[in-house]
Amino acid sequence: MTARPETPSAHSTDALRPDTVVVAGGRPAPEHDAPVGPAIVLTSTYRGSGGLDAADRAYGRYSNPTWEDMEEVLARLEGAGQPGLLYASGLAAIASVLSLVPAGGCLVMPRHSYQGSLALAKDLEARGLLTTVTVDVADTEEVVAALGAADLLWLESPTNPMLEVADLPALLAAARERGVLTCVDNTFATPLVQRPLEHGADVVVHSVTKYLAGHSDVVLGAAVTSDPGLRDRLKGHRSLHGAIPGPFEAWLALRGMRTLALRIERSAATAGELARRLQEHPAVLEVRYPGLPGDPGHERAAAQMDGFGAIVAIVPAGDVDAVEAAVDRLRVWTPATSLGGVESLIERRRRHHEEPRSVPETLLRLSVGIENVEDLWEDLDHALRGIDR
Ligand SMILES: Cc1ncc(COP(=O)(O)O)c(C=O)c1O
Repeated sequence: MTARPETPSAHSTDALRPDTVVVAGGRPAPEHDAPVGPAIVLTSTYRGSGGLDAADRAYGRYSNPTWEDMEEVLARLEGAGQPGLLYASGLAAIASVLSLVPAGGCLVMPRHSYQGSLALAKDLEARGLLTTVTVDVADTEEVVAALGAADLLWLESPTNPMLEVADLPALLAAARERGVLTCVDNTFATPLVQRPLEHGADVVVHSVTKYLAGHSDVVLGAAVTSDPGLRDRLKGHRSLHGAIPGPFEAWLALRGMRTLALRIERSAATAGELARRLQEHPAVLEVRYPGLPGDPGHERAAAQMDGFGAIVAIVPAGDVDAVEAAVDRLRVWTPATSLGGVESLIERRRRHHEEPRSVPETLLRLSVGIENVEDLWEDLDHALRGIDR
């Protein structure tokens, strides 16, 4: 039998769409009797003799085939031309990127960044390693004005938990013009909704713990860049600081990522519906969700994102005690920190002492999961109606 000539497009897996990449990426070579899914490789070291090449695996703190399966998928999703880097947690990835700031350098970051990122910057500042300037990331002029002295522009969009939207193309271009390195924390959006490298970012980080893994059963992080020199520096930092994931966590995260497109589609649709209903709720003073046409970040989000994500923030009527009592009345929503899992979580963010004072004391962050929208609504509606206004 003569082999059929290959049509390049039909056989190229490079051109697959993101919702196929999450399913098809990181699988073993298609050989007869090969397992369909990747293996968990448990080893601390690798066979080798003679000299040591930079590409050799060599040791378990430098590389692992199970990490690499996930690192390949992340690179394809973010549009980087080289593998991503997995870390022990999102914060480990963030620490690695902050290590790129030269000693005594300047970091510009959103006032409402994830509180762990703010706390880490504060710690580095207290130890005299860098100075931090915080900005309103939705105010493009304010951010650009702060770039003069900056070595690294840290961006988060939408921000955690205020859901402010940064003008990514404008800010990343302004930073590039001034030779300022840029990193975007893309945890809230995921690469299915927003690809910062395409807008000109140097590095993207993720708390893989959240949407990418998706089941609230693993803590993991990632950094992705298209710049080989930056990747070498980040990888060197990860190896030296031992900020590496366990192979089982990497495997679990990739397994969870197989359903990322379905989960995002469902939870974002539900988030939009709940946000619309919450706007009309008598016990809700304010709703923040970039998908709402009246939201301050709506137009920007519509221009630079493929959707609006599944995090909603509300400011209910009532004081802290009344709002916490409402949270206690919930039965379908789980009161817990974190986000991005299949189950809906709710949290009053200011219960964390590190959360900036400019976040309203009663603000609740809702991470919308994949349950039935009516069950989520009835539970919320009942809990909020109990607030004595
Ligand atoms: C936006 C964002 N970035 C980073 C992190 C830190 O990730 P991890 O908890 O995996 O260290 C979080 C965690 O909540 C987050 O919400």
